[in-house]
Amino acid sequence: MGEALNGLKRDIMCGELREGHVSRKFTVMGWVQRKRNLGGLIFIDLRDRTGLLQVVFGEEINKEAFIEADTAKSEYCIAITGELVLRQAPNLSMPTGMVELKGESIKILSESETTPIYIKENLDAAESIRLKYRYLDLRRPDMQKIFMIRHKTSKIIRDYLDDNGFLEMETPILGRSTPEGARDYLVPSRNYPGSFYALPQSPQLYKQLLMVSGYDKYFQIVKCFRDEDLRANRQPEFTQVDLEMSFVDVEDVIAVNEGLIKKVFKEILDEEVKLPIRRMPYKEAMEKYGSDKPDLRFAMEITDLTDRVKGAEFKVFADAIEVGGSIRAIKAENCADMGRKQIDKLGEFVKTFKAKGLTWIAVKENEIKSPISKFLTEEEMQGIIQVMEAKVGDLILIVADKDKTVFQALGGLRLEMAKSLDLLKDSKEFNFVWITEFPLVSYNEEENRYQAEHHMFTMPMDEDLQYLDIDPSKVRAKAYDIVLNGEELGGGSIRIHDKNLQQKIFEVVGFTEEKAYESFGYLLEAFKYGPPPHGGLAFGLDRIVMFLAGTENIKDVIAFPKNQNAACVMTQAPNMVDNSQLKELGIAKIN
Ligand code: AMO
Ligand code: AMP
Repeated sequence: MGEALNGLKRDIMCGELREGHVSRKFTVMGWVQRKRNLGGLIFIDLRDRTGLLQVVFGEEINKEAFIEADTAKSEYCIAITGELVLRQAPNLSMPTGMVELKGESIKILSESETTPIYIKENLDAAESIRLKYRYLDLRRPDMQKIFMIRHKTSKIIRDYLDDNGFLEMETPILGRSTPEGARDYLVPSRNYPGSFYALPQSPQLYKQLLMVSGYDKYFQIVKCFRDEDLRANRQPEFTQVDLEMSFVDVEDVIAVNEGLIKKVFKEILDEEVKLPIRRMPYKEAMEKYGSDKPDLRFAMEITDLTDRVKGAEFKVFADAIEVGGSIRAIKAENCADMGRKQIDKLGEFVKTFKAKGLTWIAVKENEIKSPISKFLTEEEMQGIIQVMEAKVGDLILIVADKDKTVFQALGGLRLEMAKSLDLLKDSKEFNFVWITEFPLVSYNEEENRYQAEHHMFTMPMDEDLQYLDIDPSKVRAKAYDIVLNGEELGGGSIRIHDKNLQQKIFEVVGFTEEKAYESFGYLLEAFKYGPPPHGGLAFGLDRIVMFLAGTENIKDVIAFPKNQNAACVMTQAPNMVDNSQLKELGIAKIN
């Protein structure tokens, strides 16, 4: 039977007790990690989120407490009062291992059934069970560590931004659905049947309006919602550290955010991030690493072979050149002996990036092995080996296609090879890079139109404004992403604050003036009244915490996450609702 506290007060957390506390009396409260009855002695490891404390009850010392202590079982919630003493056999693997509490009284506050998952570190249980009993999963010490890191991270960020003159402001969760971006989560309106609010994908337009209002240097740690396909680093609701500044250019935004990153990594991990963080234009990232979020912890750079094989008789190469594409390759060192089956698997792998195939050259001791040697002259073959700087034992992996496909396929293959070769096994490195000079727009071939690469409010680079009319795909933007070990941590841009330029961009992405006004009229209106030059950035807080906590699964850093199908296994959301509820909202029942 659970008991009330009856005036009993906890005076310290379990994990805080040390030798300096010896000879004093304490009341501690927590959960039974383990109980051992060794005849005349009972040992209880008591746990709270600060750690474990050993408590000992002796039959000789206090019979009543001894008997009560013996009724305690794993995960019972209990309170114990006693004197702290030095342990006869210290346990150096525990922070509290020099001391133990000599139990004088024990109160069972509530009992526990056998838990469906073990409350221990490094639990190897099915994710569905962990999510169903999330409150027990969260009781595990490794999870508790993560959420203490998360708390500390938010606090450091808040303090840092406050110190730098930022103002924290809240923006609406019930907003207006806007075109572009990811799919919105919609909320039906009771007052306007058939109309919907949208949950924010980000506070982008509100924060720009706050700049118009003069709330220079805004920030917010804010929930955002995107109805996207989920991955290991993506949740339907996630948290951004969102910020915006007035009277700034790219350098100012980058400087503030580098300071933030430096402080967080120093204070949480004691890791020195060297500033300034390296920068790389988008074009270079794509050409060398086939990705706008390159993992720079290893090289394996992509090399362009097009010039070397221009005249070759291999149809695949000729076709790629014909469509304006290219032939590029990466070099897998010491992989020349890779079996045919394995290479075929890599061929299948690049097809998932829409590449038509993969070809290869293995540089062996006495021969060059390749399915395309019959199509290449000796000179062409040697030319490839030379530009690749391939040595005996190396394997060259080649893709020929349109540039975009080549980059995606080789960028993916590069990561896959690093994984299969265990190149990053012992890496403790945090390799940051700013990717800059993103294209302003990209061409959407399915819809036959340009679309904004970051978003429609991003400022073009001054020197590229001239191409806006002639060839929009040539225009680079004042946009930047911060990437860590191949993951996008955050991104932002300098915004357009000129109404006419904004309208021009809407035109480029195929928005009529009417449609632009319908969607963003309030922003265009606001820009009539002295908007300041402004720009900002948003970090994914969950992703930062993933790195700080050393996990590759975003669910580990969100207390109550959704599963792969965007459902909450514990509460069973989303759920069907009563017809009456639907009626009230003016929504028809779907049978
Ligand atoms: P962006 O769309 O790049 O920019 O988002 C900023 C950062 O948010 C994180 N993120 C996510 N994290 C978890 N799950 C998701 N589904 C998810 N989607 C995004 C990423 C990403 O870098 N308004 C702009 C920012 C700006 O221009 O100031 C924006 O939202 O870490
Ligand atoms: P095929 O002409 O389809 O028989 O292909 C001959 C070889 O070239 C095979 O090893 C294919 O995997 C490879 N290959 C096919 N398409 C490409 C491509 N786009 N880039 C590189 N190699 C390719």
